[in-house]
Amino acid sequence: PLVKDLFGLTELEERIRSHFGLKHVVIVPGDSDVSPHTKKELGRAGASMLRKFVADDEIIAVTGGSTMAEVATHLTASSSLKGCWFVPARGGLGESVELQANTIASTMAKKTGGRYRLLHVPDHLGEDAYQSLMQDSSIAEIIEFIRSARMVVHGIGEAMVMARRRKVDPETTEHLREDGALAEAFGYYFDRDGNILHKMPTIGLRIEDIHGMDAVICIGGGKSKGEAIAAVLRHGHEDVLITDEAAAKVVVESL
Ligand code: BG6
Repeated sequence: PLVKDLFGLTELEERIRSHFGLKHVVIVPGDSDVSPHTKKELGRAGASMLRKFVADDEIIAVTGGSTMAEVATHLTASSSLKGCWFVPARGGLGESVELQANTIASTMAKKTGGRYRLLHVPDHLGEDAYQSLMQDSSIAEIIEFIRSARMVVHGIGEAMVMARRRKVDPETTEHLREDGALAEAFGYYFDRDGNILHKMPTIGLRIEDIHGMDAVICIGGGKSKGEAIAAVLRHGHEDVLITDEAAAKVVVESL
């Protein structure tokens, strides 16, 4: 706490917390864009918030991404997480294996002594494939399990960075750009005001499932993500934000 006060981070945390009506904000010093150490600290803070907000035997939905991978790295065996289930928030989003939500969920379970269930669906589902997948009873069952999660921990990305990383088709990418897409989280794209512009065609949690949860925890840092974080906070359904100093300053400037 002493170090934080030196950086004025406690004050920044409180400004963001009260402006967006969040339960909790944690800001680590530095800028994840340029410092791998800061990104690690973000992961450490994410792991400790997860432990703090989890209820016994909870189902925890998680997204993929390099930030969530850092959270997984910092989780350790804990009595509060032992009875929990880790599940991916959504199916295939076009990420590489190491960054997929399935991988993060299984790593988190292994590190904490918890359990996991996976969702195996192809990326970029067409309407027909979607309909037939939903008729498969084992898929329907795991989707129902995922939708019963009361807690979600998710990363935040810049819209255009994520569209490129996921190889979104050129036409959709152009639409996103024209519409002013700024942020991406769990396969949804948001504009500056937090309105949803587009959703990736895959299965899993829907935005209305997320709205109804007890704990929505978002984690992301780096100056480049500042505006994206502000956009997701404006969407208005987050409870906890874990970020870094550089991103937090951009968020505060946008208020
Ligand atoms: C994705 C998540 O896997 O990672 C998104 O589904 C998030 O919610 C993205 O925007 C962020 O990735 P990174 O690597 O910047 O942490």
